[in-house]
Amino acid sequence: MKGLEGRIAIITGASSGIGAATARRFAAEGVRLVLADIEEEAGRKLREELCEAGSEAEFQLCDVSELEEVEALVAAAVERFGALHILFNNAGVGTYGKTPKLDPEIWQRVMHVNLDSVFYGCRAAIPHIREAGGGAIVNTASVSGLFGDFGLTAYNAAKGAVANYTRSLALDHARDKIRVNAVCPGPVETGLTTAAMNLPGQMDRFRAAVPLGRVGRSDEIAAAVAFLASEDASFITGENLVIDGGMTIHTGQPSYSALLNDE
Ligand SMILES: NC(=O)c1ccc[n+]([C@@H]2O[C@H](COP(=O)([O-])OP(=O)(O)OC[C@H]3O[C@@H](n4cnc5c(N)ncnc54)[C@H](O)[C@@H]3O)[C@@H](O)[C@H]2O)c1
Repeated sequence: MKGLEGRIAIITGASSGIGAATARRFAAEGVRLVLADIEEEAGRKLREELCEAGSEAEFQLCDVSELEEVEALVAAAVERFGALHILFNNAGVGTYGKTPKLDPEIWQRVMHVNLDSVFYGCRAAIPHIREAGGGAIVNTASVSGLFGDFGLTAYNAAKGAVANYTRSLALDHARDKIRVNAVCPGPVETGLTTAAMNLPGQMDRFRAAVPLGRVGRSDEIAAAVAFLASEDASFITGENLVIDGGMTIHTGQPSYSALLNDE
């Protein structure tokens, strides 16, 4: 993709799933990387894999819900590579629970990891990206940030905030030549979704809900992140790009196929 070669990027939540797939995709595009996660072993292993394949990559242990750790991450990236062009705010956690029984501490944790982290990352990174002459921020929101789900209260609220924060960031920093977009994945098989997808019969329900007839893969989200971070997306900012196999295009009305005489 245009304009990624030689760029310097931070990826949070890089040790697994969508973050790891994006690290591999960025590395293949020639991006120099700082991978950040609380999962050290998997993150270091991924760094080794990328370096062995000829990429420049570092791993930094970082809890994105801690302001000082995020500031240290950005400082370390700039110190190591001399600049910063791309920030992929991807780390996230999910939780289930209806409001009356949801522990306020769990609510706060979901907000800290999914939302505050995006603010911390952007706050620390924007001055450096501006100084580098511009670049791109990509946030991981979700289709669950655009619509509601049963029992996903805190996650829906946090991702909804990420989706709208993406728009305000894009407005505030367009003149700094910083484009800010978000990816909104539908169901993707990763560590985050294993429990939900392994419930009896659940995978069949996902397949039925997705017009393309399957759940997504992390590399399909990574491809969209790479596009949004690249110069191929040079006129796109403030966008929440839905990548869900068509899951959210449906009004929810039952099928009229009998009327159409084709089934
Ligand atoms: N998998 C899906 O269906 C799906 C759908 C929509 C959005 N998302 C979002 O995609 C992003 C990536 O999730 P994934 O599906 O790849 O799951 P994943 O669990 O495989 O990856 C999430 C990564 O974030 C890391 N992480 C968690 N808390 C952290 C913290 N405090 N500090 C630093 N790192 C932390 C984890 O260690 C893990 O490596 C998340 O923001 C998630 O909400 C996922």
